[in-house]
Amino acid sequence: MDLSPQAITFAHANSARFLTEMKELLSIASISTDPEKNPDMLQAATWLMAELKKRAFENIQLLPTKKHPIVFAEWLGAGADKPTVLVYGHYDVQPADPLDLWESSPFEPTIRGDLIFARGASDMKGQIMACLKAIESIQSAGAFPVNLKFLFEGEEEIGSPNLEPFIREHTDLLKCDLALNPDSGMIAADIPTVVYGLRGLAYFEIRLRGQATDLHSGLWGGVVQNPANVLADLLAGMKDKDHHITLPGFYDRVRPLSAIEKQEIARLPMDEKYYLAGTGARKLVGEKGYSWIELASTRPTLDVNGMYSGFMGEGSKTVIPCYAMAKVSMRLVPDQDPEEIRQSLVKYIEARLPVTMTYEVIVHAGNPASFTDPNTPGVRALEKALEVVYGKRPVFKREGGSIPVVGHMKHLLNAESVLTGFGLPDDNLHAPNEHLNLPNWYRGIDTLIHFFYNLQP
Ligand code: BES
Ligand code: MN
Repeated sequence: MDLSPQAITFAHANSARFLTEMKELLSIASISTDPEKNPDMLQAATWLMAELKKRAFENIQLLPTKKHPIVFAEWLGAGADKPTVLVYGHYDVQPADPLDLWESSPFEPTIRGDLIFARGASDMKGQIMACLKAIESIQSAGAFPVNLKFLFEGEEEIGSPNLEPFIREHTDLLKCDLALNPDSGMIAADIPTVVYGLRGLAYFEIRLRGQATDLHSGLWGGVVQNPANVLADLLAGMKDKDHHITLPGFYDRVRPLSAIEKQEIARLPMDEKYYLAGTGARKLVGEKGYSWIELASTRPTLDVNGMYSGFMGEGSKTVIPCYAMAKVSMRLVPDQDPEEIRQSLVKYIEARLPVTMTYEVIVHAGNPASFTDPNTPGVRALEKALEVVYGKRPVFKREGGSIPVVGHMKHLLNAESVLTGFGLPDDNLHAPNEHLNLPNWYRGIDTLIHFFYNLQP
């Protein structure tokens, strides 16, 4: 039965309370990378468990991992003949720094106009709340049309290091027909979007050590090699003048775009202007021979995400540092393999590193790119739902960001992920003043209500 009109009436009547509850979750500083925030991580997980308890879910558990716990719950009351949907979410957020660039405090959710500002508003506590509130609205209207499981992890923003073994050990518990993953987003508030591909990520820390200690750059400068200079040279050499990545074998496994996909992508409204506006860059720069949208979603990248060496304090200090470090990550596309990319980085460093230096490469994250088959009942259900709520057919796009769980669910649970989300490209994800567009969030709740009813066989 499709009781979506009743469910949507409930959602609209309760919209103010939904917002209040989202603010509660947004007030918790659940920054997964910061050990000082471990109590907040636990608080966010506990908050979600309490929310699930209110809705009479069963088997609600806080399952430990090596770092942050996973929240699980289920409701299998629809019966074995109905599909089971695994709803994924991550309750962790990125650090809020630099704090002084926020116009309101990151963990005091603040509404200005149509936007709610808080770390995690768009990525992705707001998206978790949209799912939970859609589900609540459906429950208020009658029996839930499909079976549900929930997996809320706390380590997505650090690359989900403990999720693969967790899923491997809990394949029975997590068994499902499809996953709903609301951790991606839309192209624009008036362009309903289905995401069918994500890039992967290979994230490294490169450490160089020169002589045993820092040295006076006047007394000793001129006769020793400086690890900061050497690291700069290594990093600069990782791309040629055409912005092509030079690591040996880096592109070997890159699957070329099919002619059809190339055409489809070219139709999306994402031209130079779009990327200029979205980035605030003076000029776009990228590998020769590809359109901007191809570069931002279907080609691999290499970026320095952080660098450290020598004196970083106020003022000046004349020193030759003994140590230099850079954090370097690559966005991967099908069929690149994170371990092969590590080997190619190591080969590159070994071929160039002068004898004055020793090096170390630390792996922070590695997950391959993923694709969702658009011809599945889950994607069709989402497509129909978006069309009803937004009044136009959705576009299909590949996203440049990464969500490690999508690949794990496919390989370990044989479950395709339906990727959605109601955040927008200018929500300042991972940046100061992250926000969520509230009218679009409410449309998202309506969309998810339709989605679940559309899944009925
Ligand atoms: N939600 C993002 C990824 C995303 C953003 C997908 C917008 C589609 C549209 C996710 O939380 C994220 O930021 N992931 C990290 C993953 C990494 C730490 C392994 C990323 O892409 O940097
Ligand atoms: Mn996210």
